Amino acid sequence: MKNIIEMDKRYVAQTYKRKPLALVKGKGMVVEDIKGKKYLDFVGGIAVCVLGHSHPALVKAISDQANKIMHTSNLYYINKQVELAQILSTITPAGIEKFFFCNSGAEANEAALKLAVKHTKRARIVAMMGSFHGRTALTVGATWKAAYHKPYHAIIPEVVDFIPYDNLDAAESAVNGETAVVIVEPIQGEGGVKVPSDDYLPGLKKICEKNGALLVCDEVQTGIGRTGKWFASEHSGVKPDILTMAKALGGGFPIGCMGAKTEIMKSFAPGDHASTFGGNFLACAAAEATIKAMKKSKLPQAAAKKGEYFMKRLNELAEKHEQIKEVRGKGLLIGAEVSSKKIADEIVEKAMKKGFLINATNDTVLRFVPPLIVENQHIDKLVTALDQILKEF
Ligand SMILES: Cc1ncc(COP(=O)(O)O)c(C=O)c1O
Repeated sequence: MKNIIEMDKRYVAQTYKRKPLALVKGKGMVVEDIKGKKYLDFVGGIAVCVLGHSHPALVKAISDQANKIMHTSNLYYINKQVELAQILSTITPAGIEKFFFCNSGAEANEAALKLAVKHTKRARIVAMMGSFHGRTALTVGATWKAAYHKPYHAIIPEVVDFIPYDNLDAAESAVNGETAVVIVEPIQGEGGVKVPSDDYLPGLKKICEKNGALLVCDEVQTGIGRTGKWFASEHSGVKPDILTMAKALGGGFPIGCMGAKTEIMKSFAPGDHASTFGGNFLACAAAEATIKAMKKSKLPQAAAKKGEYFMKRLNELAEKHEQIKEVRGKGLLIGAEVSSKKIADEIVEKAMKKGFLINATNDTVLRFVPPLIVENQHIDKLVTALDQILKEF
């Protein structure tokens, strides 16, 4: 372990604050570190590994495809890309039926914002306080946390107006005839698992329509079954103009995607946007297998049920321990707000020692985004461990 840390320092860009842990194996809910210690994984690669680790259907799809062909470029037609787009159109909210493929959440949002600007011929973006949309110059510019964009102000376009999340009055004042697009997470993930009121997204859509602006739902974290529906925007019935996804889409294989209404996607002409790797055979085979396996096991429905149980158990803990201020979330995107960053960090450390991976976001929020195959017995084990840890404070 010491050697890995030293080699990382010597050869790898130091952009991540890593835990002193190197995971080398995984199966289902369990991951194993380099010393053979096992952990129950409630991080799931940060809301990525929806099927758990090394799901047989995903492993088979990737290896079968690797044996046929992996990459050809978008100079040619890609049958796997077409198949994936068709399957996606069966699970995305009504109207989202054309897709651009890329490799990450930031790229999906970058594509969404560029498309909106080209389509509306306008140049201003409205984004939310507490948002996270990625690390490219444009998407980090639409991300709330100042520390992420401050060093790059010289190259970030000044086109974003930030407004408070879950506040329709603020949106009414900010969105106008110059606004190309409003970008919003249906539940803020990195911002601390914030669930808006039921009328928020439909209200935002109405304000966009009134002003001729487009609504982008960033479902990079909420998407693909995590919140109990394929997409979190479905909970309020809102129909976004553009929807972005990544994380869970490939079940662990990198892929991002921007979906839009057909008449909006028409604004992209050949050459307007592109990606060498976007939608290659391997990534599309992984995403197709992930969606099919999720459909077969009805994982979105399972996420709703298990999420309810998980929240109930966490609320029991909150009643016993004053360090937990609030439990919130939907499906298996759950946050427990604790009283300080120090406590949140200590809980994460202590849980790791006991064999549980959890993570803290926005300083004080313990975030639980396990694989959707998690079972009540795993949840019970974690809750028992958290109970013991909280007793020690
Ligand atoms: C809502 C949201 N959008 C965009 C991103 C960026 O995705 P990526 O890291 O794949 O670029 C994230 C990552 O956490 C996210 O949670």
